[in-house]
Amino acid sequence: MTKPRAARDPAPTAEQPWTRRSLTALRGLSAGELRTLLTRARAFAASGGGDQLAGRTIATLFFEDSTRTRTSFTLAAQRLGAKTIDASGASTSVNKGESYADTARVVEAMGADAIVTRAKQAGAADLIADAVRCAVISGGDGRHEHPTQGLLDAYALAEAHGRLDAFDLSGLRVAIVGDVVNSRVARSAIAGLTTLGASVVCVGPPGLAPASLASLGCAVAHDFDGVLPSSDAVMMLRIQFERHAEPTNPDAAAPPGAEPRRSAAIASIREYRELFALTEARAARMKPGAVVMHPGPINRGLELESAVADGPRSIILRQVALGVPVRMAALALCVGAPPR
Ligand code: CP
Repeated sequence: MTKPRAARDPAPTAEQPWTRRSLTALRGLSAGELRTLLTRARAFAASGGGDQLAGRTIATLFFEDSTRTRTSFTLAAQRLGAKTIDASGASTSVNKGESYADTARVVEAMGADAIVTRAKQAGAADLIADAVRCAVISGGDGRHEHPTQGLLDAYALAEAHGRLDAFDLSGLRVAIVGDVVNSRVARSAIAGLTTLGASVVCVGPPGLAPASLASLGCAVAHDFDGVLPSSDAVMMLRIQFERHAEPTNPDAAAPPGAEPRRSAAIASIREYRELFALTEARAARMKPGAVVMHPGPINRGLELESAVADGPRSIILRQVALGVPVRMAALALCVGAPPR
């Protein structure tokens, strides 16, 4: 097992005033800032909503598919009294050659107070944040980060292990299993969970969990069965075959309309399942109280057996539900932050 590069101070830190107009990554946020976001989310989870964003307009500008993230940002904005507009999908003028920055400026010029964006390219959210003065929140950019997913993962883990009082995750060990190298969810989870005191071990075949991931402050292992019994949470990731095909991986190519299911990073689906799928037999060897997480979408029968996805250890749908108050917190804090 590769050791983490640096141990982190697990001591709880007080909340810290929120001054950021954008949220494009969890890496670089302090424990105090994370606790400010999570404490606000806890308040929204209890109250269900408010009028903090009454009279404001929140725009979703997604250049990549989404079910959970776009819908829960829309619900979050509406529960705070905001109007929502959606400028996503194949209908944007990006398809006519307009840049992301210009498209974002157009949406801002129409009166958006915040833009929530998703794109295939890492760095797109920061590029948009640099182009506009309104708040910008990333809903995921390429392999970079998915900050609100990382926040909701931290919240769900804290809830499952009775840590909602101070969001102090010290002493908890989280295994992130699967296609870690291609995962923006994993990057945000590693940043958020380790800053809050948890230890994270990334698990997968070397092509999907390379030793270089240790530079993010996690451990790396290739033996799922060795890691499983000591983990307090197991976060399963799907294999992102579509990203293996970028920019040139003919091995992952599939006919139009067909889902690619091959990758040079794994020897075979069958072998991958044998070594890294969370099966009922493996779930039976988890610690008492340990939980199963997944950001979705799930490829049932590949990384996760249905009986485990729907079983008593699974908090997968709770993660989805917590996405709404977490995104309410992100919107309220970023829109309320001082102008750039
Ligand atoms: N977890 C997540 O980002 O899901 P969506 O792609 O459905 O938004």
